[in-house]
This record gives sequence, structure tokens and C-alpha cells, in this order.
Amino acid sequence: MAEVVIVDSVGSAGEVAADVVQRLVAERPDAVLGLATGSTPVPLYRALERRVAAGGLDLSRLRGFALDEYVGLPEGHEQSYASVIRREVVEPLRLDASAVHVPDGRPQDIETAGARYEAQLEEAGGIDLQILGLGTDGHIGFNEPGSSFASLTRVKTLTEQTRRDNARFFTSPREVPMHCITQGVGTILRARHLLLLAFGEGKAEALAAAVEGPLTASVPGSAIQLHARVTVVVDEAAASRLARADYYRYAWANKPSWQAV
Ligand code: GLP
Repeated sequence: MAEVVIVDSVGSAGEVAADVVQRLVAERPDAVLGLATGSTPVPLYRALERRVAAGGLDLSRLRGFALDEYVGLPEGHEQSYASVIRREVVEPLRLDASAVHVPDGRPQDIETAGARYEAQLEEAGGIDLQILGLGTDGHIGFNEPGSSFASLTRVKTLTEQTRRDNARFFTSPREVPMHCITQGVGTILRARHLLLLAFGEGKAEALAAAVEGPLTASVPGSAIQLHARVTVVVDEAAASRLARADYYRYAWANKPSWQAV
């Protein structure tokens, strides 16, 4: 079962998630972090940024792999995940840019880009901690409903809902790309620890389906139930549809001190 941590604010969620990253880096300064984009991981990145700026955390040896990328955005487009990761993660967290990878979403050689990314991941020794957000339709990475639990990094077609959800980052909905390249559900399940974040009422249904619903490719996030080490950090609004919320609070309040997050 996933460890579900319900906190009272998005800010505290960022701190709890930052503790998980900090503990990993203390053990392994050159750990491999799986990086998510979207608005959800921002509080985590800001919490890490504050710790780095205060001198209490050095992430300069950390390695990173982004979950996904749009296909076909012009090079350097400010909404490409390569740009977002550089702006939101690499620069503020003072990571080594040459150690941070994003799937190659350029149209040329796109058919081999998935396999190339998988090879890079393997060469790095795999992901130690994968940060995940959750789409309102239950997607993780850009694995839309129906994605195989065995899937590896590949090109996918975005659903209309995801394109609408992400239109807020673009000047017009038509500008949101139709295709993306994403780590597969199978790729995500190979990470040694999953850290799923979700905030707000809009994620409540997808979160309950992912954490407590039946295992189904129709809710790609439900694949986390197959993983032995999952930490889910959510606010009260996102937790509002969880049937076992009281138990999760009780388990967190009574967590044995020897048990690391
Ligand atoms: C996006 C990203 C996902 C992200 C999810 C939720 O489309 N590809 O990695 O987790 O959808 O986005 P947000 O955090 O902005 O709600």
C-alpha cells in the first residue's frame, strides 16, 4: 500500500516532499531523480530551492530525468518541458545542467527517441526517486487512459482533456501539441521509489481512483498500487474522496520513528 500523507496546505506538502528528496541526497549525493512538470511539483521545487539558497542542501551532483516532453514545439519554446525543467528546476536548484535529461521531442528521429531515452536511463542505473503529478483523467507522465502498465518511453497522442487542461500554459488551445513523448507506466514502475503529489478538489476523483480504485489501464495512476514503495503527499481537498483517509492520518500520526518516509 502506498503511504498516504494528508497535509493541511500545499506549502506543507512541498516541505514533506522536500524531506523525501533531502533524505535521498544525504544517502546518495549523485542520486537519480525523476522530474515531473506541471503545476503540482512546484511547491516541492520551491521548498528545495529555499533549502539550497540557505546553504543546507547541495544538489550539484544530483542527476535528473524528466518524465515527458511535447513533440514538435519549436526549439527553445518556453513551454517545452526542456525549458520548464531548466527554468523551474535546474537553475533554481543549482543542478548540473549536463546531468539533467529530457526526452527528445524533435520530429526528426522521433521514432527512435523512446528507445534512446530508455538506454540513457539504463546507463544512469535507473531512477532512485520518481516525482509524479496526476492528470485529472488519472494519467501519470503523459500516459493517457488505456496506456499499458508494461509500456516504456514512447510517443503518445494527448487526449482532448489533457490538451484543454494544459492550454492555460499556452496563448491559445490550438497551440498545445497533439503528441508527446513520455516515460511509460512500465518505466515509471522501475523507479525505486515513487513520490506522487496531488492538490485541489479537481484531483480528488483521479487520486481516489489511483490509490484505492481497481488496477486498470483506464486509470494509469492506479499502477502505483503495483509498486512496493510509494509515498503520496496530498492536501485535504485532493484527499476528500479517499475512503480510507482516516486510516492514512492515523498511520502517519503513529508512524514508527525507525521508518523513513
Ligand atoms: C501534465 C504532465 C504530467 C502532470 C499532469 C498534471 O500534463 N505531463 O506530468 O503530472 O499533467 O498537471 P498539473 O500538475 O499541472 O495539474
